[in-house]
Amino acid sequence: MNGERTFEELFGKHPTCAASAPGRVNLIGDHTDYNQGCVLPTVIPQRTLVEAAIAGDRYQVYSATLGRLISFDSGELTDFGRYVGGCIQVLETRGVGVPPLQLRIDSNVPVGAGLSSSAALEVATIRVLDVLLGLDLPAEEIALLAHKAEVEYAGVACGIMDQMACSLGRSGLMLFLDTMTLERRLVALPAGAELLIVNSGIPRALAGTEYNQRRAECERAAAMLGVTSLRMVSDPADVERLPSPLKERARHVVSENARVLAAVNADAGAFGALMNASHASLRDDYSVSVPALDELVTALQGEPGVFGARLTGAGFGGCCVALVEAGEATAIAQRILDRAFSGCTPGVIVPSLN
Ligand code: GLA
Repeated sequence: MNGERTFEELFGKHPTCAASAPGRVNLIGDHTDYNQGCVLPTVIPQRTLVEAAIAGDRYQVYSATLGRLISFDSGELTDFGRYVGGCIQVLETRGVGVPPLQLRIDSNVPVGAGLSSSAALEVATIRVLDVLLGLDLPAEEIALLAHKAEVEYAGVACGIMDQMACSLGRSGLMLFLDTMTLERRLVALPAGAELLIVNSGIPRALAGTEYNQRRAECERAAAMLGVTSLRMVSDPADVERLPSPLKERARHVVSENARVLAAVNADAGAFGALMNASHASLRDDYSVSVPALDELVTALQGEPGVFGARLTGAGFGGCCVALVEAGEATAIAQRILDRAFSGCTPGVIVPSLN
């Protein structure tokens, strides 16, 4: 990984233990998780590593990515201390005493790209505390604690997908997760296909505000339909009675959930078509795309060897994901890098070409 100062250089000793967690990419099922719907993410090769030792009288945390060392006690958390300190405090509210620690974080998960760098950090932090303190937490519990840290301390009212994906995902497999029951299973990627992830490089500037607004719209739509969540809509025709934009928002959620259920057993061609439909729905009904993402997705969809492509994650910037013919991802990625785009200068995340 890319840190310049090792644990030994920082703290004068070896770490007692280390743990890591991957970033994730969502293949289909965006903005369904806070509506009790289903999602289908997988993990990416990029990971966040946390090394730890018990020491001192305050928490000291170094980020190799940011090149910054911060220290805090149980008082107010700032900077990336909100993620790490949030995990510590969430464990403490569960009755786990977390002694002062020295921690070093290193990560090659791109930040702000919609690949869950924060969930990777939270899951890796709880994993390292799990080992250090001998807690023996199950992977689902680690995800739930990481999610609590994100919501309560990092201040993002996100769904459970990211932390579950980073904690329970397996390389090369899709995690089908029902966010209402937390039932899940690992599923093979469609035969003859592989993934390509392209970063638009557009920062997700509006993601926080607009994300919360979409959540609120979904809650209003569900209330008007007399259901506890949009997952509970049994007849898609019902949403057409809602006023705009609630109608469009609910239409996306209900149709996206159906697309996830269809995608689990789809072959590569059908899966790709579902991804294309998902992008159109996120763009037209959910209004979370931006022109640069649309341009990139259209370019990917037009490339030979591409089954389908869509924006991934919350939207407003970040990455696109494409399902492509096995063995073709590098060549397709190269062709995308060679093109000129008016709205962005893309970078390739998986397979890594940068
Ligand atoms: C973000 C959130 C997730 C999910 C996605 C959209 O990544 O953290 O919980 O809502 O957006 O699918």
